Amino acid sequence: MGLEGKIAIVTGAGSGIGRATAQLMAQRGATVGVADINEVAAEEVATAITAAGGKAEAIHLDICLEDDIRQAVEGMVARHGRLDIMHNNAAYAPPDVLAADTEILSIPTEVWDRVMQGTLRGTMLGCRYAVLAMRANGGGSIVNTSSMYGVSAFYRMPAYGVSKAGINLLTEHVATAHGREGIRCNAVAPSMIQTPMLAAAIPKEFIDMNVDATLTGFLGEPEDVAMTVAWLASDEARYITGQVIRVDGGSTAHLATYADARRFFDGAAAA
Ligand SMILES: NC(=O)c1ccc[n+]([C@@H]2O[C@H](COP(=O)([O-])OP(=O)(O)OC[C@H]3O[C@@H](n4cnc5c(N)ncnc54)[C@H](O)[C@@H]3O)[C@@H](O)[C@H]2O)c1
Repeated sequence: MGLEGKIAIVTGAGSGIGRATAQLMAQRGATVGVADINEVAAEEVATAITAAGGKAEAIHLDICLEDDIRQAVEGMVARHGRLDIMHNNAAYAPPDVLAADTEILSIPTEVWDRVMQGTLRGTMLGCRYAVLAMRANGGGSIVNTSSMYGVSAFYRMPAYGVSKAGINLLTEHVATAHGREGIRCNAVAPSMIQTPMLAAAIPKEFIDMNVDATLTGFLGEPEDVAMTVAWLASDEARYITGQVIRVDGGSTAHLATYADARRFFDGAAAA
């Protein structure tokens, strides 16, 4: 699963899943462009990677802006001669937008538009500029970050979920249209992941509900997603493309009655 000599960009790499993935890719030998809208966070991650003996550089990037994405890719190619891996991980999901993403009767239309503009369009543009760079060096691997909310419908957050479902088909499209150029494109669809912000931002009752829906009995950590992304990015996954890999502890593998059925059949022992 080595990534020696590979040149990679990870968006949203200043925190959470992106940070863990950037660190793991660097550990495995890649030179990583740590791209984030938060320049301070990107610098911190790049510095930590370098201090640990890896190769990384911070890149300022807002996925809502096409020029930022183009410049991030072109800059990496100019400095390192190629791009091998693009992890389109960042989503447009500030707290006020997530709070307004209620259901289709009440979500402000401009919030819907902004989510599509940021998360779905930004991921498409990340794929576009990655393909343009990768075809020049005979191929590469793109990994997009989807979500379990893009696999099955959730009670709320329709804009977020639809943008992630769009990423799933985008992933298949990019894999299909550019496979014969040596470019693979896959996605990871995580369930609730224990990022540093989780406990602060989400009520415990709701976190517990999500644990209840896993088949593992625990929520994944950023490193669980990072390991899947790093493997998809590597040559070991050379025969895997156009796939949406659910990194979700089995949360979307079963019927909605799963947690209640466990208690129904196994009683207190299953609680
Ligand atoms: N954490 C989860 O439970 C979970 C579950 C499923 C999917 N995801 C997806 O995983 C990805 C990462 O989520 P996370 O939980 O690690 O988030 P996080 O909040 O820990 O980190 C997100 C990073 O993205 C950066 N960012 C925000 N807006 C940006 C923009 N416009 N341009 C560039 N960078 C931007 C932030 O500064 C931050 O560093 C997202 O696509 C998210 O939808 C997360």
